Amino acid sequence: MDWLKINQKKTVETLFTIDGFSQFSKEIQEAMFYALDGGKGVRASLLVETTLSINPQKNDRSLWLSALAIEMIHAYSLIHDDLPALDNDDLRRGKPTVHKKFGEDIAILTGDALLNTAFEVLTQTDYSDYVKIQLIKKLGKAAGAQGMIKGQVIDLKQPSSTIDELKYLHSLKTGEMITLPINFATVITECESKVRNNLIEFSKKIGIAFQAKDDLLDIIGIEESVGKKLQKDLKQNKKTYPYFLGITDTKREIDFLTSTALDILQNCKYSFDRLKELIYYLKIREK
Ligand code: IPE
Ligand code: IPE
Ligand code: MG
Ligand code: MG
Ligand code: MG
Repeated sequence: MDWLKINQKKTVETLFTIDGFSQFSKEIQEAMFYALDGGKGVRASLLVETTLSINPQKNDRSLWLSALAIEMIHAYSLIHDDLPALDNDDLRRGKPTVHKKFGEDIAILTGDALLNTAFEVLTQTDYSDYVKIQLIKKLGKAAGAQGMIKGQVIDLKQPSSTIDELKYLHSLKTGEMITLPINFATVITECESKVRNNLIEFSKKIGIAFQAKDDLLDIIGIEESVGKKLQKDLKQNKKTYPYFLGITDTKREIDFLTSTALDILQNCKYSFDRLKELIYYLKIREK
């Protein structure tokens, strides 16, 4: 899927064009780029492709700035997730993690910088003040203490006892940041509520499927493809999808969630061809 890579590259390169970038410390400039580079860019593409399916005329600088803001939050979440105090990981995307490459001090500060700058980047768009405020609010909520952060706390401190608790955790730690780009697209295109509701439902299914697949890859993936140290969840006593369901039923659950997501899109008035391709990719991805 070349377009996924192209979208990711375009999103990351937008970093160099944001206001104030030349004023950042050299270390932060370098570490920010390092942290953004090499990801799949799923969240950026969810925003860009959803928006352009609804309204191709929205392909402008503001859209790419918005995609960058989302990938900045995602990159910050990974930098902090990899720190010794959290998952203590040395390898990500086939490269040393940010704290291994730049030191813990710069890694923490780069995470902080990505988080803060993401909000500022949204103010650099040409959207109306109303749209900007909606985007900023949705970003803060999804990434914040009732969203992704809440999921991370549960992941670290409250092991799930049931599959439903695990789904709740996954819906927060990963699902919130998968629903966010869809929410952005619905705000940017000002689409009708029926389409919006369908898209949000779709994103909730793929959000859970995405983390279930991440859990699965930790067990049956190949390190060279995944680009992370594997078998870590078991070592850290994380109760993941395969812990509750086993490998076969985890795969079945991913199939079920992704085919439900596809059914939801089939019922939409727009074709969303690339989102459909993305669903298939999420199911078969090996990284
Ligand atoms: C990894 O996300 C962390 C999860 C929420 C599962 P991705 O698998 O999207 O990571 P990159 O950005 O492609 O490396
Ligand atoms: C991380 O989940 C989710 C985030 C909010 C960053 P994981 O800890 O399972 O992600 P990986 O496996 O390190 O990418
Ligand atoms: Mg983690
Ligand atoms: Mg981790
Ligand atoms: Mg994982």
